[in-house]
Formats: sequence, C-alpha cells, structure tokens
Amino acid sequence: MHYPRVQGSALALCLVEIFRVNGETRLEGDVYVSGAKNSSLKLMAVALLATGQTTIRSVPDILDVTIMSELLRRLGCAVSYDPQTEVVVIDVPESITHRADYDLVRRMRASIAVLGPLIARTGEADVALPGGDNIGSRGLDMHIAGLERMGCTVTSEHGYLVVQAPTGGLVGTHVYLDFPSVGATETLLMAGVLANGTTVIDNAAREPEIADICEMLVEMGAHIEGIGSSMLTVTGVDELKPVDHTTVPDRIVAGTWGVAAAITQGSIAVHNARTEHLSLVFEKLTSAGAVVSEIVDGFSVTMDRRPTAVDIVTLPYPGFPTDLQPQFIAMNAIADGAALVTENLFEARFRFVQELSRLGAEVRTDGHHALVRGRSTLSSAPVESTDIRAGAGLVLAALVADGETIVHGIEHIDRGYVKFEEQLRRLGADISRETIADLV
Ligand code: EPU
Repeated sequence: MHYPRVQGSALALCLVEIFRVNGETRLEGDVYVSGAKNSSLKLMAVALLATGQTTIRSVPDILDVTIMSELLRRLGCAVSYDPQTEVVVIDVPESITHRADYDLVRRMRASIAVLGPLIARTGEADVALPGGDNIGSRGLDMHIAGLERMGCTVTSEHGYLVVQAPTGGLVGTHVYLDFPSVGATETLLMAGVLANGTTVIDNAAREPEIADICEMLVEMGAHIEGIGSSMLTVTGVDELKPVDHTTVPDRIVAGTWGVAAAITQGSIAVHNARTEHLSLVFEKLTSAGAVVSEIVDGFSVTMDRRPTAVDIVTLPYPGFPTDLQPQFIAMNAIADGAALVTENLFEARFRFVQELSRLGAEVRTDGHHALVRGRSTLSSAPVESTDIRAGAGLVLAALVADGETIVHGIEHIDRGYVKFEEQLRRLGADISRETIADLV
C-alpha cells in the first residue's frame, strides 16, 4: 500500500512492518522448533522427481514456502499447504514444464533447487538466475560444472540459466566439488538419482539438510550410498515414487533459541531439536558460561551470568554454521572479554555489524574477520535487518539493550522464523509487530 510520493523527492512513504522491542529482558520458558527451512524448500523440489502425490510434514509457515509452492504450481503441480498442521501436499503431473520464472526465483535463492529435478525429469531447464539474501556473490559455477560433466550444455540467456541434457539423458560421472557447496551438492544429487549410471559427488556438503534430502530420495526408491559423508555415490534408477516424509528439525532456529537464553541470562527449553546437529554450537554456548542439558525431545540452555566472549570460525558442517554467526556476534557484543569471529562462507554477512554498532556494539571488521569487544550494556536505536540471520541477531541484541529498539526490514526475519515475536513474547519479551509509514 503506497502513500503519495513526497513532492520533489525520489522517496515515497510506504506502510512497512517493524518490531518494537523493549530491552533488558530475561527469557524463560519453552519453545517448539519446526522443520528446517533449508530442508523443506528442497524437499518440495525433490517432489518434482516423482509423478503422483507427495506429502511433506513439519514444513514451517514462512514466506519462502509460499514462494516455492507458487513456483511448483507454475511448473504444473497442484500444491496445498496447511499452516496449522504444517503439511504440504504436492500433486505432480506426468508432464511438467521446465521454466522457473524470474519473478519468483529472484525472491528466493532456494528456487535454484528446482534445477536438478527439472533437468532430470524433462531433460531441460530454464531457471532464472536466483536472488535471495544479499549476503555475497553466491555463484553457481559448481552447479554448472557438475551438470556439464553429466553431459549437459549450459548457457546463460537473458538472465536465465538454460540447461539441456544430452539426447540419451544425463550421464553418471565423478564430480569433485571445489568446495562442499550445499546448493551444488543438492543439484547434482537430484540430477543423479534419475541419470544413466553412477554419479559420485566428491567433497559433497554434509549438512543435516542434505542427509534429509538423501533420506527422502531413498524412501522414493533412489540408490544413494555415503549419506552424511563427503562422498555421495548415486546410482540412477528409471523412476521414483512419491512418499510421505517429515522434515528434519531446524538446527539454526534451535541454535538461535540457545543464544536467546544465553544473551538474556535466561533459561529456555527447546523442543523438537536434534542435539547431534548442534554439538559445536553447544560447545560454544558452554564456553560462554551457559549450562546446556539434553531433554527428551531437545535441549535446554540456562545462563546465570554475563556471557564470556567466544571465538567463532564459520565452516561447512560439521563446522560452526554461518547461519548462527550474527547471533553469536550479538552475544559477544555484551560479553565479558573480546572475541575473534571469522566468516568463511558469505563475505557480505558482516554488513550486519554496522547495524549492531548502532546499538553501541564495539566491532571492528577486517576482510572476513571481526573483532568484537564486549560491552556491559547496549543502547537502543533504530536498526535495519539485512538478511534473515542478521535480523535474528539484531532482535537478540535489542532484547538486552536499554530502552526501545525499532527493528526495520523484518520481512527478512519472517523468511526464516515462524512468528518470531509471538514465540519471544511467550518467553517474556516485550516485543510487538507494528505497521508504520516509512520513507523508502
Ligand atoms: N558458491 C560458489 N559457487 C557455487 C556454489 C556456491 O561460489 O557453485 C559459494 C557461494 O557463493 C557461497 C558459498 O559457496 O559463498 C556457500 O554456498 P552454498 O552453496 O554452500 O550455500 P547455499 O546453497 O547458497 C545454503 C543455505 C544458506 C546457508 C548455506 C551454508 C539454502 C536456501 N541456503 O546456501 O542459508 O548459509 O547453505 O550452510 O539452503 C540462511 O538460511 O539464512 C542461509 C543463507
């Protein structure tokens, strides 16, 4: 909804949503974690590989699920989602189209997940070059090199990646990834399951979300060895069948709640979490002074003092996740001592530091290193989320700052966290979602 343009200016007043956060909060209580965003979206793309009705459970009620549903509809599928039960049902017809349009793909990086299934099912794929979070260059060279090794021709035309499989279909091959890319591993995995012969993905990503995709593919009849390891061996089959699959819990959301407990010197029980996916995160929370305990369906984090600063180096799984880096920088900003944080995945992720500095945080960045000197307090200010995790980090910082912080750009947070503010309120936070008129 647009207000009239301000006279003589390129700026316009628009209605936008913000979070208003009153700080100096202690969080206490229980939270329930949904399925992983970065798994659910890919599992929805996996459904394209089999004709018939696929059911995916524990799919979080976030905007990206709506975008992926629309993308699948445009490819010819019938898709329904029930936010109450968190169940997606996808009906895939025998014949699907092969073009993923710019208007949807530009809004969500995960759209690239349809590339592998489209090329495997139809022998061709026209996928608009993706958008998504503004956190770095996020190239596709490894996706392309892998598909070329499988016999495809790949060109870029008018903003689209145009991929054509060889006449006899995709050819199994040995691909060595330069880097264990999550996206490239997924593309080659989904292409490999219906290829002729065996595809070996060497130096594959080992994230739990990749293992989840592999498990669903195996349930569908795919032959995959080495699940959870850095070498995936995929032997192509003629056909896959639709299944009913439950998404792995979101380890990043679970980890965010862990930091929320630690930063607010609170106590949170996190339900539906897989502790084995968070070992290094627990190690860091413990080093910061928190007590982390296993509970029947997850874990709890309790903190009874100011956190101690902890060094972080982000790396592909099982290394420390980049998607928890901003939340840990926020905790370090009010910690006792100084910490060095090294970001190895997304060069632009430190953009969030500028916003955190507005709250009085003392952070110096140099290339992919950030030196954080903890301060005993942060002071409230208006701030802007630059991506999903930066947004979460800013809200966590706002919870401990003195006074009222307005967090802008919360549409980013909504892409990764289901009703974040409602969950925080249940834990005792003073946070509200409001619509305001803002210059954009
Ligand atoms: N890269 C290339 N070339 C490629 C592929 C990747 O240069 O062909 C680079 C990227 O530019 C990036 C790095 O490699 O710098 C990591 O990319 P990767 O493919 O591993 O990640 P992704 O698939 O783009 C997914 C998640 C991210 C998460 C990373 C790492 C989705 C939709 N996104 O991204 O999640 O940070 O893996 O674990 O699954 C988030 O949820 O906030 C988020 C950004």
